[in-house]
Amino acid sequence: MIFKSSTTAVPDVPAVPRHVAIIMDGNGRWATKRLLPRVAGHVKGVEAVRGVVEACVLRGVEYLTLFAFSSENWRRPAEEVSLLMRLFVTALEREVAKMHANDIRLKVVGDLSRFDPKLQEMIANAERKTAGNKRLTVSVCANYGGRWDIMQATSKMVAANPGVRDYTEEMLAPHLAMAYAPEPDLFIRTGGEERISNFLLWQLAYSELYFTDTYWPDFSADSLDAAIASYQHRERRFGRTGEQVANKT
Ligand code: IPE
Ligand code: IPE
Ligand code: MG
Repeated sequence: MIFKSSTTAVPDVPAVPRHVAIIMDGNGRWATKRLLPRVAGHVKGVEAVRGVVEACVLRGVEYLTLFAFSSENWRRPAEEVSLLMRLFVTALEREVAKMHANDIRLKVVGDLSRFDPKLQEMIANAERKTAGNKRLTVSVCANYGGRWDIMQATSKMVAANPGVRDYTEEMLAPHLAMAYAPEPDLFIRTGGEERISNFLLWQLAYSELYFTDTYWPDFSADSLDAAIASYQHRERRFGRTGEQVANKT
Protein backbone atom coordinates (compact mmCIF):
# COMPACT_ATOMS: atom_id res chain seq x y z
CA MET A 1 0.00 0.00 0.00
CA ILE A 2 1.25 3.47 -0.89
CA PHE A 3 0.58 6.23 1.66
CA LYS A 4 0.32 9.92 0.90
CA SER A 5 3.52 11.76 1.72
CA SER A 6 3.05 14.97 3.74
CA THR A 7 5.38 16.88 1.42
CA THR A 8 4.31 15.67 -2.01
CA ALA A 9 0.56 15.59 -1.25
CA VAL A 10 -1.80 16.76 1.49
CA PRO A 11 -2.62 13.71 3.63
CA ASP A 12 -6.00 13.05 5.21
CA VAL A 13 -6.35 14.20 8.81
CA PRO A 14 -7.97 11.49 10.91
CA ALA A 15 -9.80 12.50 14.12
CA VAL A 16 -8.14 9.67 15.99
CA PRO A 17 -4.48 9.56 15.00
CA ARG A 18 -3.97 6.67 12.66
CA HIS A 19 -0.29 6.42 13.58
CA VAL A 20 1.10 7.30 17.01
CA ALA A 21 4.90 7.28 17.48
CA ILE A 22 6.33 7.44 20.99
CA ILE A 23 9.75 8.09 22.51
CA MET A 24 9.37 6.16 25.75
CA ASP A 25 11.71 8.20 27.93
CA GLY A 26 12.19 8.55 31.68
CA ASN A 27 12.48 4.93 32.85
CA GLY A 28 15.81 5.56 34.57
CA ARG A 29 14.66 8.71 36.36
CA TRP A 30 11.42 7.01 37.39
CA ALA A 31 13.52 4.34 39.15
CA THR A 32 16.14 6.70 40.59
CA LYS A 33 13.39 8.83 42.16
CA ARG A 34 12.28 5.68 44.00
CA LEU A 35 15.86 4.75 44.98
CA LEU A 36 15.62 1.70 42.70
CA PRO A 37 18.16 0.54 40.12
CA ARG A 38 17.54 1.93 36.61
CA VAL A 39 16.57 -1.49 35.33
CA ALA A 40 13.51 -1.45 37.61
CA GLY A 41 12.30 1.48 35.53
CA HIS A 42 12.79 -0.49 32.32
CA VAL A 43 10.82 -3.41 33.77
CA LYS A 44 7.98 -1.04 34.69
CA GLY A 45 8.29 0.48 31.24
CA VAL A 46 7.41 -2.83 29.62
CA GLU A 47 4.20 -2.88 31.67
CA ALA A 48 3.36 0.60 30.44
CA VAL A 49 3.80 -0.65 26.85
CA ARG A 50 1.21 -3.33 27.47
CA GLY A 51 -1.32 -0.74 28.69
CA VAL A 52 -0.72 1.62 25.79
CA VAL A 53 -0.98 -1.17 23.19
CA GLU A 54 -4.34 -2.14 24.66
CA ALA A 55 -5.51 1.50 24.75
CA CYS A 56 -4.51 1.97 21.09
CA VAL A 57 -6.51 -1.09 20.07
CA LEU A 58 -9.59 0.23 21.89
CA ARG A 59 -9.26 3.70 20.38
CA GLY A 60 -8.81 2.51 16.81
CA VAL A 61 -5.19 3.61 16.35
CA GLU A 62 -3.85 1.52 13.46
CA TYR A 63 -0.10 1.96 13.93
CA LEU A 64 1.80 2.35 17.18
CA THR A 65 5.55 2.90 16.93
CA LEU A 66 7.72 2.70 20.03
CA PHE A 67 11.34 3.83 20.34
CA ALA A 68 12.86 1.13 22.53
CA PHE A 69 16.59 1.41 21.87
CA SER A 70 18.38 4.03 19.80
CA SER A 71 21.53 3.61 17.75
CA GLU A 72 23.18 5.84 20.38
CA ASN A 73 21.99 3.81 23.39
CA TRP A 74 25.00 1.47 22.92
CA ARG A 75 26.94 4.28 24.60
CA ARG A 76 25.35 3.34 27.93
CA PRO A 77 27.15 1.20 30.51
CA ALA A 78 27.53 -2.37 29.18
CA GLU A 79 25.54 -3.71 32.11
CA GLU A 80 22.49 -1.58 31.30
CA VAL A 81 22.70 -2.48 27.60
CA SER A 82 22.79 -6.20 28.33
CA LEU A 83 19.89 -5.89 30.79
CA LEU A 84 17.86 -4.08 28.15
CA MET A 85 18.62 -6.86 25.64
CA ARG A 86 17.53 -9.51 28.12
CA LEU A 87 14.35 -7.59 28.82
CA PHE A 88 13.67 -7.42 25.11
CA VAL A 89 14.04 -11.20 24.82
CA THR A 90 11.71 -11.90 27.76
CA ALA A 91 9.15 -9.40 26.48
CA LEU A 92 9.16 -11.15 23.10
CA GLU A 93 8.82 -14.55 24.75
CA ARG A 94 5.92 -13.38 26.87
CA GLU A 95 3.98 -11.05 24.61
CA VAL A 96 4.05 -12.42 21.06
CA ALA A 97 1.41 -15.12 21.57
CA LYS A 98 -0.88 -12.59 23.26
CA MET A 99 -0.36 -10.08 20.48
CA HIS A 100 -1.13 -12.72 17.90
CA ALA A 101 -4.33 -13.73 19.73
CA ASN A 102 -5.38 -10.06 19.66
CA ASP A 103 -4.82 -9.67 15.91
CA ILE A 104 -1.77 -7.43 16.44
CA ARG A 105 1.08 -7.39 13.94
CA LEU A 106 4.59 -6.91 15.35
CA LYS A 107 7.42 -5.27 13.47
CA VAL A 108 10.93 -4.65 14.79
CA VAL A 109 12.59 -1.78 13.00
CA GLY A 110 16.27 -0.86 13.00
CA ASP A 111 19.69 -2.24 12.18
CA LEU A 112 19.13 -5.70 13.62
CA SER A 113 22.49 -7.01 12.41
CA ARG A 114 24.13 -5.87 15.64
CA PHE A 115 21.90 -8.08 17.79
CA ASP A 116 22.65 -11.58 18.99
CA PRO A 117 21.74 -14.08 16.21
CA LYS A 118 19.30 -15.82 18.56
CA LEU A 119 17.47 -12.55 19.19
CA GLN A 120 17.42 -11.88 15.44
CA GLU A 121 15.82 -15.26 14.91
CA MET A 122 13.20 -14.62 17.61
CA ILE A 123 12.36 -11.32 15.96
CA ALA A 124 12.02 -12.93 12.53
CA ASN A 125 9.76 -15.64 13.96
CA ALA A 126 7.57 -13.13 15.78
CA GLU A 127 7.21 -11.00 12.67
CA ARG A 128 6.39 -14.02 10.54
CA LYS A 129 3.82 -15.32 12.98
CA THR A 130 1.96 -12.00 13.25
CA ALA A 131 2.43 -10.82 9.65
CA GLY A 132 -1.21 -11.30 8.64
CA ASN A 133 -2.73 -9.51 11.65
CA LYS A 134 -4.85 -6.46 10.95
CA ARG A 135 -6.09 -4.74 14.09
CA LEU A 136 -2.97 -2.80 15.09
CA THR A 137 0.63 -2.75 13.88
CA VAL A 138 3.10 -2.31 16.73
CA SER A 139 6.55 -1.31 15.52
CA VAL A 140 9.36 -1.55 18.04
CA CYS A 141 12.34 0.55 17.00
CA ALA A 142 15.49 -1.18 18.21
CA ASN A 143 19.00 -0.08 17.29
CA TYR A 144 17.10 2.46 15.24
CA GLY A 145 18.33 5.88 14.21
CA GLY A 146 16.65 8.31 11.85
CA ARG A 147 19.96 9.00 10.10
CA TRP A 148 20.67 5.28 9.74
CA ASP A 149 17.23 4.89 8.17
CA ILE A 150 17.76 7.67 5.63
CA MET A 151 21.23 6.33 4.75
CA GLN A 152 20.16 2.71 4.35
CA ALA A 153 17.19 3.81 2.23
CA THR A 154 19.47 5.98 0.11
CA SER A 155 21.85 3.08 -0.56
CA LYS A 156 18.94 0.86 -1.60
CA MET A 157 17.44 3.58 -3.78
CA VAL A 158 20.73 4.11 -5.60
CA ALA A 159 21.17 0.37 -6.16
CA ALA A 160 17.59 0.06 -7.42
CA ASN A 161 17.98 2.92 -9.92
CA PRO A 162 21.24 2.39 -11.83
CA GLY A 163 22.30 5.28 -14.00
CA VAL A 164 19.80 7.71 -12.47
CA ARG A 165 21.15 11.12 -11.41
CA ASP A 166 18.11 12.98 -10.13
CA TYR A 167 16.38 11.20 -7.31
CA THR A 168 12.99 12.12 -5.90
CA GLU A 169 11.30 11.68 -2.53
CA GLU A 170 9.00 9.11 -4.12
CA MET A 171 12.03 7.05 -5.08
CA LEU A 172 13.43 7.09 -1.55
CA ALA A 173 10.23 6.54 0.43
CA PRO A 174 9.67 2.84 -0.41
CA HIS A 175 13.14 1.99 0.95
CA LEU A 176 12.65 3.57 4.37
CA ALA A 177 12.40 1.04 7.18
CA MET A 178 8.76 1.94 7.89
CA ALA A 179 7.48 2.15 4.32
CA TYR A 180 4.64 -0.13 5.39
CA ALA A 181 3.12 2.61 7.56
CA PRO A 182 1.76 6.13 6.95
CA GLU A 183 3.74 9.01 8.49
CA PRO A 184 2.94 9.48 12.20
CA ASP A 185 0.00 11.80 12.89
CA LEU A 186 0.99 12.18 16.55
CA PHE A 187 4.45 12.04 18.10
CA ILE A 188 4.69 11.74 21.88
CA ARG A 189 7.80 12.04 24.03
CA THR A 190 7.52 11.28 27.73
CA GLY A 191 10.08 12.13 30.41
CA GLY A 192 10.24 15.90 29.96
CA GLU A 193 12.93 16.27 27.28
CA GLU A 194 11.88 18.17 24.19
CA ARG A 195 13.99 16.66 21.43
CA ILE A 196 13.77 14.06 18.69
CA SER A 197 16.96 12.14 19.66
CA ASN A 198 17.45 10.74 16.14
CA PHE A 199 14.02 9.07 16.01
CA LEU A 200 11.98 9.13 12.77
CA LEU A 201 13.65 12.16 11.17
CA TRP A 202 12.13 11.79 7.72
CA GLN A 203 8.70 10.61 8.78
CA LEU A 204 8.04 13.31 11.42
CA ALA A 205 8.08 16.12 8.84
CA TYR A 206 4.46 17.11 9.56
CA SER A 207 3.59 15.10 12.67
CA GLU A 208 2.00 16.89 15.59
CA LEU A 209 4.48 16.92 18.48
CA TYR A 210 3.40 16.35 22.08
CA PHE A 211 5.75 16.45 25.06
CA THR A 212 4.86 15.45 28.59
CA ASP A 213 6.84 15.41 31.84
CA THR A 214 5.27 12.06 32.78
CA TYR A 215 7.93 9.37 33.04
CA TRP A 216 7.25 6.46 30.71
CA PRO A 217 6.45 3.90 33.47
CA ASP A 218 3.63 6.22 34.62
CA PHE A 219 2.21 6.73 31.12
CA SER A 220 -1.34 5.34 31.16
CA ALA A 221 -4.40 5.12 28.91
CA ASP A 222 -5.46 8.46 30.42
CA SER A 223 -2.10 9.97 29.47
CA LEU A 224 -2.63 8.71 25.92
CA ASP A 225 -6.09 10.29 25.89
CA ALA A 226 -4.61 13.62 27.00
CA ALA A 227 -2.15 13.46 24.09
CA ILE A 228 -4.91 12.56 21.62
CA ALA A 229 -7.09 15.40 22.98
CA SER A 230 -4.22 17.83 22.39
CA TYR A 231 -3.79 16.45 18.86
CA GLN A 232 -7.49 16.97 18.19
CA HIS A 233 -7.13 20.70 18.93
CA ARG A 234 -4.36 21.21 16.40
CA GLU A 235 -4.91 22.64 12.95
CA ARG A 236 -2.83 20.60 10.56
CA ARG A 237 -2.09 22.96 7.71
CA PHE A 238 0.68 21.19 5.75
CA GLY A 239 1.88 24.56 4.47
CA ARG A 240 -1.54 25.97 3.61
CA THR A 241 -3.38 28.85 5.31
CA GLY A 242 -5.93 28.31 8.05
CA GLU A 243 -8.60 29.62 5.68
CA GLN A 244 -7.75 27.01 3.08
CA VAL A 245 -7.98 24.30 5.71
CA ALA A 246 -11.40 25.58 6.85
CA ASN A 247 -12.68 25.68 3.26
CA LYS A 248 -11.13 22.29 2.48
CA THR A 249 -9.29 23.65 -0.56
C1 IPE B 1 14.08 5.30 28.10
O1 IPE B 1 14.34 5.62 29.41
C2 IPE B 1 14.44 3.87 27.76
C3 IPE B 1 15.64 3.73 26.91
C4 IPE B 1 16.30 4.69 26.35
C5 IPE B 1 16.08 2.39 26.67
P1 IPE B 1 15.79 6.10 29.88
O2 IPE B 1 16.58 4.90 30.26
O3 IPE B 1 16.40 6.97 28.85
O4 IPE B 1 15.42 6.93 31.16
P2 IPE B 1 16.07 8.30 31.64
O5 IPE B 1 15.95 9.26 30.51
O6 IPE B 1 17.49 8.02 32.00
O7 IPE B 1 15.25 8.70 32.82
C1 IPE C 1 15.66 8.22 23.32
O1 IPE C 1 15.89 8.36 24.68
C2 IPE C 1 15.72 6.79 22.93
C3 IPE C 1 14.71 5.91 23.49
C4 IPE C 1 13.71 6.23 24.26
C5 IPE C 1 14.83 4.53 23.12
P1 IPE C 1 17.32 8.73 25.28
O2 IPE C 1 17.16 8.79 26.74
O3 IPE C 1 18.35 7.80 24.75
O4 IPE C 1 17.56 10.18 24.65
P2 IPE C 1 18.58 11.34 25.06
O5 IPE C 1 19.93 10.74 25.15
O6 IPE C 1 18.12 11.88 26.38
O7 IPE C 1 18.43 12.34 23.96
MG1 MG D 1 16.41 8.98 28.54
